[in-house]
Amino acid sequence: MKILVTGGAGYIGSVVSESLLDKGYQVIVIDNLSTGHRQAVDTRITFHQGDITDREFLRPILRSGVEAVCHFAAYSQVGESMVEPLKYYRNNVGGAISLLEEMRDAGIRHFLFSSSAAVYGEPEEVPITEESRLNPVNAYGNTKWTIEKILEDCREGWALNSLALRYFNAAGASALHGEDHRPETHLIPLILDAALSPGRDLVVYGDDYPTPDGTCVRDYIHVKDLATAHVLGLEKLRDGYAGSLNLGNGRGFSVMEVIQSAGEVTGQDIPHRIGKRRAGDPAVLVASSRKAEAELGWKRIFPDVGKIIEDAWNWRKKFPRGYPD
Ligand SMILES: NC(=O)c1ccc[n+]([C@@H]2O[C@H](COP(=O)([O-])OP(=O)(O)OC[C@H]3O[C@@H](n4cnc5c(N)ncnc54)[C@H](O)[C@@H]3O)[C@@H](O)[C@H]2O)c1
Repeated sequence: MKILVTGGAGYIGSVVSESLLDKGYQVIVIDNLSTGHRQAVDTRITFHQGDITDREFLRPILRSGVEAVCHFAAYSQVGESMVEPLKYYRNNVGGAISLLEEMRDAGIRHFLFSSSAAVYGEPEEVPITEESRLNPVNAYGNTKWTIEKILEDCREGWALNSLALRYFNAAGASALHGEDHRPETHLIPLILDAALSPGRDLVVYGDDYPTPDGTCVRDYIHVKDLATAHVLGLEKLRDGYAGSLNLGNGRGFSVMEVIQSAGEVTGQDIPHRIGKRRAGDPAVLVASSRKAEAELGWKRIFPDVGKIIEDAWNWRKKFPRGYPD
């Protein structure tokens, strides 16, 4: 089965591509390398450099025998999305529409979509379930929610089978592929940066939240566990499944717990300082993934935050400055 992975030169897309190859799928990748890396694309993959908003570019690729699309390509920096919302709507929503139009015209009916915990905004209840209120608080989250609504309408309109996977914080690495966002905004790679270059300023945003140690609690899911859910999701799509599912760890970890665990993994004290709270940071964001477990038969293999950090660290030791340009 031939799968198109958009954004396959990025962090999660590269690890999912690797899992798909291991399962015997044929993988082709589209990426414009705006935030991805050519070196993250496995040599067994046919790579097309280009933009998902460009329908002329997409057309021949989607008509080359592709049976399903895994759609990762997007901009995903929350802060930037608030300053430049149209950039996010054009790329994330506009790109998804171009892709879906070309899929429809090529007769492709299976679509796996990278959604996000950002669709929930500041939750009224924890753990967050798929029944929790959707209420994004930034433009990035709005683009993800908008695409989910478009997918529901496409199911009605032309029988698209789609699965929106709402990831919480993807973390860790495979042996081959790891996290290299520029600029980096995610906690674990920032902590590892601080371990590698002690001059770096690692700020903990607030230690007066109503949590056991006062720092924010987040849900870190190993990127390899995410990849497994995608492989299962693809199988489910072929049975005609459609819906939205949370993918999280099952428990949360505070910022200080993550820093402490990283200290144990790296054998170093992680230099950090306590700063002020950031606006719009909820105290606790933890997912219930019971529905994904029940409906996909998904099981997390790597829930331990120490193991998640260890895998990220092993990758970073190989690529201290990230992928070579
Ligand atoms: N990393 C997380 O913790 C997380 C959490 C929730 C959701 N997500 C979503 O998962 C997906 C992947 O995230 P990631 O962390 O791997 O990000 P990433 O930036 O590493 O990967 C995104 C990839 O898409 C490519 N891309 C962007 N716009 C494109 C376009 N118009 N045409 C072609 N390629 C384009 C980029 O070059 C990059 O390689 C995104 O949709 C993101 O919103 C990520």
